[in-house]
Amino acid sequence: MALQKLIVGNWKMNGSVSFVRETLSYWQTQNIFHHTVICPPFPLLPLVKEQLSSPFLSLGAQDCHHKSSGAFTGNTSANLLYEIGCQYVLTGHSERRQYHAETNELIKEKAEMALANHLIPIVCIGENLQEKEQGKTLSILNSQVAASTPSSGVDFCVAYEPVWAIGTGKTASLEDIASAHDALRQQLGENIKLLYGGSVTADNYLEIFSLNNVDGVLVGGVSLKKEDFSRMICNESAIHTQ
Ligand code: 13P
Repeated sequence: MALQKLIVGNWKMNGSVSFVRETLSYWQTQNIFHHTVICPPFPLLPLVKEQLSSPFLSLGAQDCHHKSSGAFTGNTSANLLYEIGCQYVLTGHSERRQYHAETNELIKEKAEMALANHLIPIVCIGENLQEKEQGKTLSILNSQVAASTPSSGVDFCVAYEPVWAIGTGKTASLEDIASAHDALRQQLGENIKLLYGGSVTADNYLEIFSLNNVDGVLVGGVSLKKEDFSRMICNESAIHTQ
Protein backbone atom coordinates (compact mmCIF):
# COMPACT_ATOMS: atom_id res chain seq x y z
CA MET A 1 0.00 0.00 0.00
CA ALA A 2 1.32 3.45 -0.83
CA LEU A 3 1.60 5.57 2.25
CA GLN A 4 1.81 9.28 1.63
CA LYS A 5 3.92 11.38 3.89
CA LEU A 6 2.43 14.26 5.82
CA ILE A 7 4.13 17.63 5.36
CA VAL A 8 3.18 20.36 7.83
CA GLY A 9 4.18 23.98 7.26
CA ASN A 10 4.29 26.09 10.41
CA TRP A 11 4.41 29.74 9.44
CA LYS A 12 4.84 30.81 13.09
CA MET A 13 4.34 34.61 13.44
CA ASN A 14 5.01 35.26 9.77
CA GLY A 15 2.90 35.93 6.70
CA SER A 16 0.48 38.63 5.64
CA VAL A 17 -2.61 38.99 3.48
CA SER A 18 -0.49 39.67 0.40
CA PHE A 19 1.81 36.75 1.24
CA VAL A 20 -1.19 34.38 1.39
CA ARG A 21 -2.50 35.62 -1.97
CA GLU A 22 0.87 35.31 -3.66
CA THR A 23 1.79 31.92 -2.16
CA LEU A 24 -1.57 30.22 -2.56
CA SER A 25 -2.01 31.41 -6.13
CA TYR A 26 1.46 30.04 -6.91
CA TRP A 27 0.45 26.66 -5.46
CA GLN A 28 -2.63 26.65 -7.68
CA THR A 29 -0.23 26.23 -10.59
CA GLN A 30 1.53 23.29 -8.96
CA ASN A 31 0.71 19.62 -8.91
CA ILE A 32 0.59 18.97 -5.18
CA PHE A 33 1.19 15.36 -4.34
CA HIS A 34 1.69 15.00 -0.59
CA HIS A 35 -0.88 15.59 2.06
CA THR A 36 0.13 19.04 3.25
CA VAL A 37 -1.08 21.04 6.24
CA ILE A 38 -0.62 24.81 6.33
CA CYS A 39 -0.53 26.42 9.79
CA PRO A 40 -0.65 30.21 9.37
CA PRO A 41 -1.22 32.73 12.19
CA PHE A 42 -4.83 32.81 13.46
CA PRO A 43 -6.09 35.87 11.53
CA LEU A 44 -4.96 34.36 8.21
CA LEU A 45 -6.74 31.02 8.70
CA PRO A 46 -9.99 31.94 6.87
CA LEU A 47 -8.10 33.51 3.97
CA VAL A 48 -5.86 30.47 3.56
CA LYS A 49 -8.88 28.18 3.84
CA GLU A 50 -10.67 30.13 1.07
CA GLN A 51 -7.72 29.65 -1.27
CA LEU A 52 -6.88 26.01 -0.66
CA SER A 53 -6.99 24.68 -4.17
CA SER A 54 -6.06 21.03 -3.81
CA PRO A 55 -7.61 18.12 -1.89
CA PHE A 56 -4.08 17.48 -0.63
CA LEU A 57 -3.98 20.81 1.22
CA SER A 58 -5.45 21.11 4.71
CA LEU A 59 -5.59 23.84 7.29
CA GLY A 60 -4.01 23.72 10.73
CA ALA A 61 -3.72 26.15 13.65
CA GLN A 62 -0.61 26.77 15.73
CA ASP A 63 -2.30 26.41 19.13
CA CYS A 64 -5.67 26.13 20.87
CA HIS A 65 -6.93 26.71 24.39
CA HIS A 66 -7.46 23.81 26.78
CA LYS A 67 -10.97 24.97 27.80
CA SER A 68 -13.95 24.95 25.47
CA SER A 69 -14.90 28.64 25.94
CA GLY A 70 -14.95 31.41 28.50
CA ALA A 71 -13.15 34.47 29.80
CA PHE A 72 -9.73 33.78 28.31
CA THR A 73 -8.79 36.99 26.56
CA GLY A 74 -6.58 36.52 23.55
CA ASN A 75 -7.10 32.77 23.26
CA THR A 76 -8.84 30.64 20.65
CA SER A 77 -10.98 27.57 21.23
CA ALA A 78 -10.58 24.25 19.44
CA ASN A 79 -14.26 24.33 18.56
CA LEU A 80 -13.92 27.65 16.72
CA LEU A 81 -10.88 26.36 14.85
CA TYR A 82 -12.89 23.38 13.71
CA GLU A 83 -15.81 25.59 12.73
CA ILE A 84 -13.66 27.74 10.43
CA GLY A 85 -12.22 24.70 8.67
CA CYS A 86 -9.12 23.59 10.55
CA GLN A 87 -8.37 19.88 10.59
CA TYR A 88 -5.14 19.97 12.58
CA VAL A 89 -3.68 21.93 15.47
CA LEU A 90 -0.14 22.08 16.84
CA THR A 91 0.09 21.65 20.59
CA GLY A 92 3.14 22.09 22.77
CA HIS A 93 5.47 23.56 20.18
CA SER A 94 8.79 24.25 21.91
CA GLU A 95 8.24 27.98 21.38
CA ARG A 96 4.97 27.68 23.36
CA ARG A 97 6.76 25.64 26.01
CA GLN A 98 9.58 28.18 26.19
CA TYR A 99 7.85 31.58 25.82
CA HIS A 100 4.46 30.73 27.31
CA ALA A 101 5.64 28.33 30.00
CA GLU A 102 3.38 25.56 28.71
CA THR A 103 3.72 22.36 30.71
CA ASN A 104 3.24 18.77 29.58
CA GLU A 105 0.01 18.60 31.58
CA LEU A 106 -1.42 21.70 29.87
CA ILE A 107 -0.36 20.41 26.46
CA LYS A 108 -2.13 17.13 27.12
CA GLU A 109 -5.32 19.01 28.02
CA LYS A 110 -5.04 21.01 24.79
CA ALA A 111 -4.53 17.86 22.72
CA GLU A 112 -7.54 16.22 24.36
CA MET A 113 -9.65 19.34 23.77
CA ALA A 114 -8.57 19.28 20.12
CA LEU A 115 -9.61 15.63 19.75
CA ALA A 116 -12.94 16.33 21.42
CA ASN A 117 -13.54 18.97 18.74
CA HIS A 118 -12.67 16.80 15.73
CA LEU A 119 -9.19 18.27 15.27
CA ILE A 120 -6.06 16.16 14.92
CA PRO A 121 -3.49 17.41 17.42
CA ILE A 122 0.17 17.39 16.44
CA VAL A 123 1.87 17.15 19.82
CA CYS A 124 5.40 18.55 19.70
CA ILE A 125 8.20 17.17 21.84
CA GLY A 126 11.97 17.47 21.85
CA GLU A 127 15.07 17.76 23.99
CA ASN A 128 17.21 20.87 24.39
CA LEU A 129 20.94 20.99 23.68
CA GLN A 130 21.98 20.42 27.26
CA GLU A 131 19.74 17.37 27.55
CA LYS A 132 21.13 16.02 24.28
CA GLU A 133 24.72 16.52 25.45
CA GLN A 134 23.92 14.71 28.69
CA GLY A 135 22.63 11.72 26.70
CA LYS A 136 19.09 12.22 27.98
CA THR A 137 17.27 12.50 24.64
CA LEU A 138 15.33 9.24 24.75
CA SER A 139 14.32 9.55 28.38
CA ILE A 140 13.14 13.15 27.84
CA LEU A 141 11.09 12.09 24.82
CA ASN A 142 9.64 9.16 26.71
CA SER A 143 8.49 11.34 29.59
CA GLN A 144 7.17 14.11 27.31
CA VAL A 145 5.12 11.57 25.37
CA ALA A 146 3.80 9.98 28.56
CA ALA A 147 2.75 13.34 30.02
CA SER A 148 1.66 15.42 27.02
CA THR A 149 -0.14 13.11 24.59
CA PRO A 150 -3.85 12.29 24.88
CA SER A 151 -4.75 9.40 27.20
CA SER A 152 -6.95 7.77 24.62
CA GLY A 153 -7.59 8.00 20.91
CA VAL A 154 -5.31 7.15 18.05
CA ASP A 155 -6.02 10.11 15.80
CA PHE A 156 -3.09 12.27 16.76
CA CYS A 157 0.43 12.93 15.54
CA VAL A 158 3.65 13.41 17.45
CA ALA A 159 6.33 15.72 16.09
CA TYR A 160 9.88 15.19 17.31
CA GLU A 161 11.56 18.58 17.12
CA PRO A 162 14.92 18.79 18.89
CA VAL A 163 14.94 22.33 20.31
CA TRP A 164 18.53 22.88 19.21
CA ALA A 165 17.64 22.05 15.59
CA ILE A 166 14.80 24.56 15.26
CA GLY A 167 15.68 27.52 13.06
CA THR A 168 19.41 26.88 13.45
CA GLY A 169 20.25 25.10 10.21
CA LYS A 170 21.49 22.17 12.36
CA THR A 171 19.32 19.24 11.33
CA ALA A 172 19.56 16.20 13.61
CA SER A 173 21.64 13.40 12.08
CA LEU A 174 19.77 10.56 10.39
CA GLU A 175 21.03 8.24 13.15
CA ASP A 176 19.60 10.54 15.85
CA ILE A 177 16.27 10.87 14.05
CA ALA A 178 16.07 7.12 13.49
CA SER A 179 16.85 6.25 17.09
CA ALA A 180 14.31 8.79 18.43
CA HIS A 181 11.60 7.67 16.02
CA ASP A 182 12.20 3.97 16.64
CA ALA A 183 11.81 4.58 20.37
CA LEU A 184 8.66 6.67 19.80
CA ARG A 185 7.19 3.95 17.59
CA GLN A 186 7.75 1.40 20.33
CA GLN A 187 6.12 3.64 22.89
CA LEU A 188 3.19 4.84 20.76
CA GLY A 189 2.48 1.92 18.43
CA GLU A 190 1.87 1.71 14.70
CA ASN A 191 -1.14 4.01 14.38
CA ILE A 192 0.35 7.31 15.48
CA LYS A 193 1.97 9.42 12.75
CA LEU A 194 5.49 10.46 13.70
CA LEU A 195 6.89 13.66 12.21
CA TYR A 196 10.38 15.12 12.40
CA GLY A 197 10.99 18.87 12.56
CA GLY A 198 14.06 21.06 12.87
CA SER A 199 15.83 22.70 9.91
CA VAL A 200 14.10 20.51 7.34
CA THR A 201 14.77 21.74 3.80
CA ALA A 202 13.95 20.79 0.22
CA ASP A 203 17.46 19.32 0.07
CA ASN A 204 17.38 17.08 3.15
CA TYR A 205 13.77 15.95 3.51
CA LEU A 206 14.02 12.96 1.15
CA GLU A 207 16.69 11.28 3.23
CA ILE A 208 14.61 11.94 6.36
CA PHE A 209 11.58 10.41 4.60
CA SER A 210 13.64 7.31 3.83
CA LEU A 211 13.82 6.40 7.54
CA ASN A 212 11.53 3.63 8.68
CA ASN A 213 9.51 5.35 11.36
CA VAL A 214 9.23 8.82 9.84
CA ASP A 215 5.72 9.54 8.57
CA GLY A 216 6.28 13.16 7.71
CA VAL A 217 7.96 16.44 8.53
CA LEU A 218 7.13 19.66 10.35
CA VAL A 219 8.70 22.57 8.51
CA GLY A 220 9.22 26.12 9.75
CA GLY A 221 11.37 28.51 7.73
CA VAL A 222 11.19 26.67 4.40
CA SER A 223 7.37 26.59 4.49
CA LEU A 224 7.57 30.36 3.87
CA LYS A 225 9.60 29.91 0.68
CA LYS A 226 7.05 29.09 -1.96
CA GLU A 227 9.35 27.50 -4.55
CA ASP A 228 11.33 25.41 -2.04
CA PHE A 229 8.20 24.27 -0.25
CA SER A 230 6.65 23.34 -3.60
CA ARG A 231 9.65 21.14 -4.33
CA MET A 232 8.75 19.23 -1.18
CA ILE A 233 4.99 18.94 -1.50
CA CYS A 234 4.98 18.15 -5.22
CA ASN A 235 7.75 15.57 -5.30
CA GLU A 236 6.30 12.24 -6.42
CA SER A 237 9.60 10.42 -6.04
CA ALA A 238 9.29 10.83 -2.28
CA ILE A 239 6.49 8.29 -2.08
CA HIS A 240 7.16 5.52 0.40
CA THR A 241 5.62 2.12 -0.05
CA GLN A 242 5.06 -0.54 2.54
P1 13P B 1 12.60 25.32 11.15
O1 13P B 1 12.17 24.41 10.04
O2 13P B 1 12.67 26.75 10.76
O3 13P B 1 13.83 24.81 11.83
O4 13P B 1 11.43 25.27 12.27
C1 13P B 1 11.01 24.05 12.73
C2 13P B 1 9.77 24.25 13.51
O5 13P B 1 9.81 24.77 14.61
C3 13P B 1 8.51 23.81 12.90
O6 13P B 1 7.49 23.81 13.84
